[in-house]
Amino acid sequence: MATISVPPTGVRRVRSVEEADVAGKRVLVRADLNVPLAGGTVADDSRIRAALPTLQYLHAHGAAAIDVCSHLGRPDGPDPRYAMAPVADRLRQLFDAPVSVLENTRFDPGETSNDPAFAERLADGHDLFVEDAFGSLHRAHASTVGVAALLPTYAGLLVERELEHLGRLLGEVVRPFVVVVGGAKVDDKLPLIEHLGRRADAVLAGGKVAERLLRVPTSLPVDLPVDVVAAPTFAADASARILPLAEVPGRWSILDIGPRAIHQFSAAIEDARTIFWNGPMGVFEWPRFANGTLAIGVAIAHSEAYSVVGGADSLRALGQTGLASCVSWASTGGGASLALLAGDELPGLSVIPPPAL
Ligand code: 3PG
Repeated sequence: MATISVPPTGVRRVRSVEEADVAGKRVLVRADLNVPLAGGTVADDSRIRAALPTLQYLHAHGAAAIDVCSHLGRPDGPDPRYAMAPVADRLRQLFDAPVSVLENTRFDPGETSNDPAFAERLADGHDLFVEDAFGSLHRAHASTVGVAALLPTYAGLLVERELEHLGRLLGEVVRPFVVVVGGAKVDDKLPLIEHLGRRADAVLAGGKVAERLLRVPTSLPVDLPVDVVAAPTFAADASARILPLAEVPGRWSILDIGPRAIHQFSAAIEDARTIFWNGPMGVFEWPRFANGTLAIGVAIAHSEAYSVVGGADSLRALGQTGLASCVSWASTGGGASLALLAGDELPGLSVIPPPAL
């Protein structure tokens, strides 16, 4: 008889909501409902959908009340542009059971300072806390960490699945293991390259990450694109040229990877058996410079490797290819997935006890 082997993961196991006796309990759920809004409505409801399994579980197991809290954007105090109402409306369309959505946790200054008084107000009237905001586990805030000191705390189903998938990349991977990294927030990516790069067989760098590694000498063993699309100005209509990477003039901007680099990176992706991708290969929001990012998205989607994609931009690019459902796991965490894969301790994870067994 065939046996199914579950590869060991490289992250600590946490106590699941499935271990909790939720019947008749008033449950506070921290979800990551930090979604993009456009014209006062939710522009992408992926994170709301990702929160549903835990809410459905609580409802099906007889929770007396389900109260969901989340941050939305980065407001400095109460600000109607970041009110939770549109998010709550969308959640109620998708979740056909009673649920209340608390106002944006960041309207209270006690959220980001992890003020015990704000944590008390959140915990008040609840019997259990379910931490399901994977995308916020790297934040030591009142709603992610403070509340856990006041209520019995369990991991939600999304947090469990994220840890299972991302944890595989930190455990025994099937090789070759290829990490594809790009995007603009270079300082957030370097610790990931450092940590995950040691486990990977290749790190392919595009976007601003490639630009930085080209211009600032580093000991990181990274594959840079052999050619790029570069321009003397940073603009959607810039007059750009395809150049070997080493020939890009110092003040020019790299706007995409070039055609030979698409081939170079696609070949490595085709050979891979495990892939992690975070960050576009260029300024893919500008259609003239989207080719590289979309080609890499297609190559990853077509690959038979176990593939994990994280970060809002990479997921948006993957969505544009129409192939998002072809990857093994689309992580809801941007900064949180980078921090986990960089080997950091996530404060919101540290406060969840281990499983009983
Ligand atoms: C995210 O979008 O990555 C999370 O919701 C965290 O948001 P933050 O960076 O504003 O804490």
